[in-house]
Amino acid sequence: MANLRPRPGILEIEPYVGGKSELAGATRVIKLSANESALGPSPKAVAALQAAATTSHRYPDGDAAGLRAAIGARFQLDPARIVCGAGSDELIQLLMRAYAGPGDEVVYSAHGFLMYKLSALGVGAVPVAAPERQLRADVDALLARLGSRTRMLFIANPNNPTGSYLSADELARLHEGLPEDVLLVIDAAYAEYVRSNDYTAGIELVDRAGNVVVTRTFSKLFGLAALRLGWLYGPPAVVDVLHRLRGPFNVGTPAQVAGIAALEDLDHQERSRAHNDRWLPWLARALTELGLRVHPSIANFVLVEFEVGGPRTAAAASAWLESQGIIARPMGAYGLPHCLRLSIGLEAENRAAVESLREFVT
Ligand SMILES: Cc1ncc(COP(=O)(O)O)c(C=O)c1O
Repeated sequence: MANLRPRPGILEIEPYVGGKSELAGATRVIKLSANESALGPSPKAVAALQAAATTSHRYPDGDAAGLRAAIGARFQLDPARIVCGAGSDELIQLLMRAYAGPGDEVVYSAHGFLMYKLSALGVGAVPVAAPERQLRADVDALLARLGSRTRMLFIANPNNPTGSYLSADELARLHEGLPEDVLLVIDAAYAEYVRSNDYTAGIELVDRAGNVVVTRTFSKLFGLAALRLGWLYGPPAVVDVLHRLRGPFNVGTPAQVAGIAALEDLDHQERSRAHNDRWLPWLARALTELGLRVHPSIANFVLVEFEVGGPRTAAAASAWLESQGIIARPMGAYGLPHCLRLSIGLEAENRAAVESLREFVT
């Protein structure tokens, strides 16, 4: 029998479980478990995708030059400092492989996006969680976790699953507290939804420092989660390292052409944003009126607390919702077993979720 042993850390990984999308026996499923775009992709992106099908025998442009130019134009950034990836998940993993290894420490916020911990383990690094205050990242606690072995610090802003964020000032303070040889990764997957004036995705920090990168995605506001498309803006030296490490064709042609079309469809982006502007506060209010504690969110989902014991736990709520064809996201993997996360859906979906929970709590 073979005696194959994976590298240390890998067997500590509990594989990431995505939001369920099917329920046995249910004909109507309302999926509010993966923070996807309620309105779906731009029709222009769909048309571009369909048109690309006939050239599926050709390798993609390995440089994603057209896509990087389109991202640069849309966000006023130098395309030479953009790296595209198969979702921002791939970029997180590439950064981890590039800058952390066995024994190194990677700091993240305790209820931060799960992939930071999982990808740190994947390279044999030690994930170090900093405690939060009321489900908000705490700059002092993050800085207090730095040590001589710290190589990277990951912060999702806004954070999934809490929906909370660090202000521009807090983010700058976090950066100021980091040694120059620690890479700050600002994961701004939900940046396009944010309306708060004191928020920044962190682009200006990248411009002023050599140790900051910002990751972004097409999986949320742009509605292209199935295509796996993310991008990163970073200092030239980091960009150079990632190009050496990434697969030569890591982003397929369908993702590239759909991404360009989605970027150009400003109307669809605005519709998706306006939809969230309307239904995020509506859902938060409606659930609060049911007596549930809803954490303030500036993204496209809310984190909802349930009773820790008794008949109305989060697990019972999840089972009840699923019995009605509604899928929420249980939060046990995030150390929040008393919470569920609900993404903003279409109007009828949001209303159905609230009605179902009304029956649950009464
Ligand atoms: C904070 C955060 N970062 C990254 C991702 C991964 O996104 P992608 O689909 O680009 O891999 C997600 C997905 O839910 C997320 O919530």
